[in-house]
Amino acid sequence: MVETSLERIQESSYDRKSELRAFDDTKAGVKGLVDCGMAKVPRIFIHEEYKLERNRNQDAGNSNIGIPIIDLTGINEDTSLRREAVKEVGEACEKWGFFQAVNHGIAATTLEDMIEGIRRFHEQDSEVKREIYSRDYTKEVNYNSNFDLYRAEATNWRDSLTCVMAPRQPHPEELPTVCRDILIEYSKKVMKFGDTLFELLSEALGLSRSHLKDIGCGEGLFVLGHYYPPCPEPDLTLGTSSHTDSSFFTVLLQDQIGGLQVLHENQWVDVTPIHGALVVNLGDMLQLITNDKFKSVHHRVLASTIGPRISIASFFRTHLPPENASRQYGPIKELLSEENPPIYRETTVKDYVSHYHSKGLDCRTLEHFRL
Ligand code: OGA
Ligand code: NI
Repeated sequence: MVETSLERIQESSYDRKSELRAFDDTKAGVKGLVDCGMAKVPRIFIHEEYKLERNRNQDAGNSNIGIPIIDLTGINEDTSLRREAVKEVGEACEKWGFFQAVNHGIAATTLEDMIEGIRRFHEQDSEVKREIYSRDYTKEVNYNSNFDLYRAEATNWRDSLTCVMAPRQPHPEELPTVCRDILIEYSKKVMKFGDTLFELLSEALGLSRSHLKDIGCGEGLFVLGHYYPPCPEPDLTLGTSSHTDSSFFTVLLQDQIGGLQVLHENQWVDVTPIHGALVVNLGDMLQLITNDKFKSVHHRVLASTIGPRISIASFFRTHLPPENASRQYGPIKELLSEENPPIYRETTVKDYVSHYHSKGLDCRTLEHFRL
C-alpha cells in the first residue's frame, strides 16, 4: 500500500514537471494562456494554501488601515521639512518596512509612460517576445513567466520582463524596442530618487547622510516589468506569492488596479494605489545591514478577474558580477553596541541572492545568514 501511494506521489510530481515544461515551452507566458481563451486555472497555478485561506475568510485584506504615506515636498530646501520626513521614514521602516512616497520628484506623466511601455512590451506580437524568452540570469535582459517556475510549489499568474539597468546600462539595442526609451528615462529618474531615499534612510539610522551610498547600496538597479493578466478563477491562484525582496529596497510603481498586500501584524493589508505615488519597500539586504532595525516585510499580489494589472519593481541591488561579488555586507558597525550585537554574518549580494534563488520565492533567506 505504501508503495502505491508513493507511486502516486511520484506520478503527480512527474505530471507537474511535464506540465511546467509544456507551459514554459510555449514561451508565451500566462498572457498566452489567457489569449487562447483559457476559462479555468490550470493545475500548476493552484495555490492550495491560498485556496484554504479564501474558504476561511472571504474578505482577505484590510483596507481600513493603510501603510504610511510620506510627502517629500521641500526636503532639499527646508531643514524642518527634511527632519520631519526623516522621522516619518524611520518610523515607517521600523514598523511597516513599507511606505508610499508622494511628491518624490518624478512626474506623473513619466510614471504613466513607464506603465504604458511595459504594457506595450507584453502586448506586442508573441513572436517578438519569444525571441528574448529565457531563464539565463547572466543575461541583462530577459522575458519569462515565474523566475522560480521549476522550484516553486505553485506557479504565479504573472509574466515579467527583467532588465539590469545599473551600474552598467545595457546597450540600447539590447532593450526591447517598444519600451527602450522610457525604460532608460525611468531608470535614470528612479536611480536619482533612490539616491534621495538612501540619504533619508542613512539619516533615519543616525548615520552620515552619504553612509549607505558610500558602501555601494545605490549602485545596482534591476528593473522588473510585471504583467498580471486577468484571471478566470482568482480564488485559486496568486499573482505573486508571499515573499520578501532580496534588494536593499525596492521602488514599486503600480497601476490603479490594486491587489498588492503587505503582511502587517499577522494581517494582510491592502496597498491601495495612489495616482502619482511610488511604493517603497525595504528588502532583506537592508534588514541585514541594519541588524533588524529596519524590516523587510512579506508581501504578495492577488489575482483578479480585472486586468491586466501592470507594475514595475525597481530593485536597488547589484545583479551581475563583478559588482555583486566584490563587497561584503554585514550589520553596520556604527549601529552595533554591547546591547545590540551583530545578529547576521557578512555576505556578498551574490551569495545572498543565489541562496534566495535556490529556494524559490517563498523562503526565509535571512534566517540562513543569522549568526
Ligand atoms: C516584486 C513585487 C509587487 C507588484 O516584484 O518583488 O513584490 O505589485 N511586486 O508587482
Ligand atoms: Ni516583492
